[in-house]
Amino acid sequence: MSKIAVAADHAGYEFKDALASYLREKGYDVIDLGTNSPDSVDYPVYAKKLCSSVLSGECEKGILVCGTGIGMSIAANRNKGIRAALCTIPEYARLAREHNNANVLCLGARFVGFDEAVKITDVFLNTEFLGGRHQNRVNQLDT
Ligand code: RB5
Repeated sequence: MSKIAVAADHAGYEFKDALASYLREKGYDVIDLGTNSPDSVDYPVYAKKLCSSVLSGECEKGILVCGTGIGMSIAANRNKGIRAALCTIPEYARLAREHNNANVLCLGARFVGFDEAVKITDVFLNTEFLGGRHQNRVNQLDT
């Protein structure tokens, strides 16, 4: 099973912890990059940590959680080579993988129920990039 990095700010850490437990039960090797308490922290710090883990090859994919998922997605997409997708329904996760080859999933803990987040995550981790015409487009993102 692939190695998955997870990280969150204070608004998403409980959600992130529950998701990490779920993924470990499924057999994934999960690297938890924090935060691990309700104390207020800055989401760009955790987005940066997680993106470094993905870009170095330590983890194949990453999952970022904040209150909306918006701050994390903005922060993550500042990193060249990261394609972070804020997904609110499983279909977004499917298309983010098939068309965009997204390597980071962003979730909004205050807006998506946990059961739905599990479905989104399952789809994200089990859907392959389609390549073809999409490869050419993805290649243009980092030029
Ligand atoms: C924290 O209150 C909140 O701003 C943060 O979790 C996130 O939603 C930012 O985009």
